[in-house]
Amino acid sequence: MNQNIALITGADRGLGLALCAGLLEKGWRVFAGQYMPEWPELGRLAARQPDLLHLVALDVSSVDSVSAAARSLAATTDHVDLLINNAGVISPAMYRTIREPQDYAEMHRLFDVNALGALRVVEAFLPLTDRSAMKRLCFVSSEAGSITRSHREAWFGYCMSKAALNMAVSILFNHLRPQGYTFRVYHPGWMRTYMSGQKSAEADMEPEEAAEYALAYFLRDLPAEQENRLVMRDWQGNEWPW
Ligand SMILES: NC(=O)c1ccc[n+]([C@@H]2O[C@H](COP(=O)([O-])OP(=O)(O)OC[C@H]3O[C@@H](n4cnc5c(N)ncnc54)[C@H](OP(=O)(O)O)[C@@H]3O)[C@@H](O)[C@H]2O)c1
Repeated sequence: MNQNIALITGADRGLGLALCAGLLEKGWRVFAGQYMPEWPELGRLAARQPDLLHLVALDVSSVDSVSAAARSLAATTDHVDLLINNAGVISPAMYRTIREPQDYAEMHRLFDVNALGALRVVEAFLPLTDRSAMKRLCFVSSEAGSITRSHREAWFGYCMSKAALNMAVSILFNHLRPQGYTFRVYHPGWMRTYMSGQKSAEADMEPEEAAEYALAYFLRDLPAEQENRLVMRDWQGNEWPW
């Protein structure tokens, strides 16, 4: 049997780490994008599963880093079945309304990671995903990227970068769906993760619970008529308008 192989970006902590653990439990071989080598949890998980979990240095905001990661994977595997674009950032500077000074450098950083990051990763890993029978590209987006249901009076850089990510996925879908690729654009719910710099105590879900919902959706094969329409779904299965 062919080994199922996944790559996950932003896997050090939060949802990315929980997705790694969840896939390992299901017997997948996982390449985990490591952005914070000083953070110990991913290393501990790799020590427990040395044959199935491989750490790869990966900064999605750097073409050099993404290319080096793709080269390093190509040296050990001939395909990637499931690519999970999970890395994402927010910034306290995003909480300012238009009546406060905007931090455009921070907005650029958010765009670079949240929107362009996934594009860099898909581009670099295409030779490996092309060789998979599954060819599944997953994108952890957010309800914050929905223009139709926009309700915030601030968060410019975060909401705009997630809307831009959704547009990037739409363009990828137009080109790659006819080549056999399948897509998952996903809002994972409000999770107790580290987006604010420290673990949130307030949100609805632990990342481990969120990862179970996410993997159930990422791994499920859908009928072709459903695969042929790009949708954003949340952790409860609801479709979100763009
Ligand atoms: N938390 C929520 O409630 C929520 C809701 C909707 C959507 N999301 C989305 O869910 C995804 C996962 O977020 P999370 O909540 O698990 O947050 P998290 O705990 O902060 O995990 C995200 C990971 O990505 C890393 N990262 C940052 N910049 C990176 C880069 N340039 N390259 C690679 N990795 C990088 C982060 O490192 P640093 O900690 O050093 O930044 C962190 O380890 C994100 O796309 C986020 O936008 C989260």
